[in-house]
Amino acid sequence: MSLMESMPLPALYARIRHHVPAIEWPAYAGDIDAILRLKRERHAVILAHNYQTPEIFHTVADIVGDSLALAREAVNTDADVILLAGVHFMAETAKLLNPEKTVLIADTRAGCSLAESITGADVRLLRERYPGVPIVTYVNSSAEVKAESDICCTSGNAKKVVESLGVPKVIMLPDEYLAQNIAKQTKVEIVAWKGHCEVHERFTPGDIAELRKSYPGVTVLAHPECPPEVVAVADFTGSTAGMIDYVGKNKPARVALITECSMSDNVAVAHPELEFVRPCNLCPHMKRTTLPKIRHALETMTYEVTVPDHLAARARASVERMLAVK
Ligand code: 13P
Ligand code: SF4
Repeated sequence: MSLMESMPLPALYARIRHHVPAIEWPAYAGDIDAILRLKRERHAVILAHNYQTPEIFHTVADIVGDSLALAREAVNTDADVILLAGVHFMAETAKLLNPEKTVLIADTRAGCSLAESITGADVRLLRERYPGVPIVTYVNSSAEVKAESDICCTSGNAKKVVESLGVPKVIMLPDEYLAQNIAKQTKVEIVAWKGHCEVHERFTPGDIAELRKSYPGVTVLAHPECPPEVVAVADFTGSTAGMIDYVGKNKPARVALITECSMSDNVAVAHPELEFVRPCNLCPHMKRTTLPKIRHALETMTYEVTVPDHLAARARASVERMLAVK
């Protein structure tokens, strides 16, 4: 991946003018201009998750995508510095795949309720309890937990990864709902952990019923971190990239993305002709990254994300085994 040629500021504003009123643009433009310059000076690339706000996603990001795409692109970059606009586990994954590069995160407090739900010691206990059963770990986990696992997965490839192992039973952690949703699609028996995404666990089937009543004809797309009862009443379930593809291919006139709030804002930029109904929940961790903090990170080359040597090789192996699954 080579560094993106920056567009002039007016062209960048044109991309987000439906989201950012003209009067607010000067508040963003100074940071955007500085970030574009700093990226060139530092030979840095910005990888941004689909939950980042539009003024990050559509102006300073070089690569955007779901967790799987960001992991894949982290391997391809020829930049010296990767700034991960997302949460800590994503930056850690980028570092695992690029041990020789500098990986930065704009706010060290950008965590994840799933990653915090389990430790390496918990995984070792699971191994003792289920001897010989492979452990499939969602990338929303710490490097310590990845190091204790056999293979990683994302919401975009979980079924494929589980079935690639050719075994009748796997342990899938830490997201209980993702595990239950995948279990419905495969013959492989899945043992789950009790972790939940604090954003997606709040959606209920009642929310979807309410939505269908208030917005007749709405197409409902749900992320697989939602409880199975929510997924059961949605029209489609997929990773954030899966939802974006669905909207691009099917162009539903009225659509609700049952996921984090910035998703609809970002997808709507590409599809102004569609009506996005927005019953979203905000991820406080994703929202910790802002333009001023990205600027500060590139100015000061902080905060560097590192992985202790004793974990790195084993954690990297789990991520690389996932990337090898076609
Ligand atoms: P994906 O982008 O892989 O669908 O993950 C969603 C998520 O919650 C990341 O934190
Ligand atoms: Fe973690 Fe959920 Fe936030 Fe994603 S949306 S970072 S899974 S808390």
